[in-house]
Amino acid sequence: MKKVLVLTSGGDAPGMNAAIRAITISAMNAGFAVFGAIGGYSGVINGEFKKLTIKDVENIIQLGGTIIKSSRCPEFMTDEGFNKAVQVINKNKFECVFVLGGDGSTRGALKLSQAGINVITLPCTIDNDMGYTRKSIGFDTALNTITGLLGNVRDTSSAHDRVCVIEVMGRHSGDLALYSGLSAGAEYIIVPELKFDQKEFIQKINKSINTGEKCALVVVAEGAFKAEQVQQIINDNLKVDAKSMNLGYVQRGGSPSVVDRVLATKMGYKATELMLSGNYNCAIRDTGLTVDFVSIQEALEKHDKFDNVAYIINNSLSI
Ligand code: F6P
Repeated sequence: MKKVLVLTSGGDAPGMNAAIRAITISAMNAGFAVFGAIGGYSGVINGEFKKLTIKDVENIIQLGGTIIKSSRCPEFMTDEGFNKAVQVINKNKFECVFVLGGDGSTRGALKLSQAGINVITLPCTIDNDMGYTRKSIGFDTALNTITGLLGNVRDTSSAHDRVCVIEVMGRHSGDLALYSGLSAGAEYIIVPELKFDQKEFIQKINKSINTGEKCALVVVAEGAFKAEQVQQIINDNLKVDAKSMNLGYVQRGGSPSVVDRVLATKMGYKATELMLSGNYNCAIRDTGLTVDFVSIQEALEKHDKFDNVAYIINNSLSI
């Protein structure tokens, strides 16, 4: 019986399980045995595989995290670790390896494909920092989670007339900060893509707390500043009670949204279709209307675009 391997790598993203389910069921329907590498690339290097059954995947579409575990694997970045992974895949005669992860994981997949392994990748990261796809799996759920939490912070900040600085994830991308901030009516959003103008920031917050409500929310992407740094800037320049917090890992967990379940299911199904038609070295992407694919190489060459229009609109609407 022909075999395929699926792995989840890097930071987990809600919707990974929905994609695992779609790949497993569609590949099994086509007569393949499906294996999961436990803990991403480290599971490959150590030959830790679990044969997935229908029972393993039938009730997971609604689960956050990943049933086959994920990790960041520095060993895979070394020649020795990488060669071991290639050997293990070849020895096990996997027809195709499905890699579910973000930018780093996809770069690993490209190397595997250059070493002659059949690979198909699915973009999974809450950061949405992969320029070739409109959305990555997990982004929508994280946005909804963050937006809900910002609403909670708004309630208590309003009750106490406070300014609160909230740090959200996004090492290289301000997308989570931008769209959650816009959705929560944040008074200011700080992202790594745009130069921070401290003078303008202070003027804006000052105007905001002196016009109507005394409370204000500042959303900052982790790739720009730490929340405490921004809090300090406010405290040093304005007479206001400023607080700060880092939302942390609560952003990455939770049941996937409808958008992520649908996206992950379409992408997982497409991945199996591509394998069945002998199309490898593919990076599946979301075009907005449908899902299609480009080569992994091409995918990794596309730079992430920042939505300046949304930023400007939020800035002009925040009082
Ligand atoms: O998966 C992306 C991400 O959530 C980033 O936003 C964040 O910087 C990073 O992962 C945290 O990774 P780790 O789980 O290794 O601390």
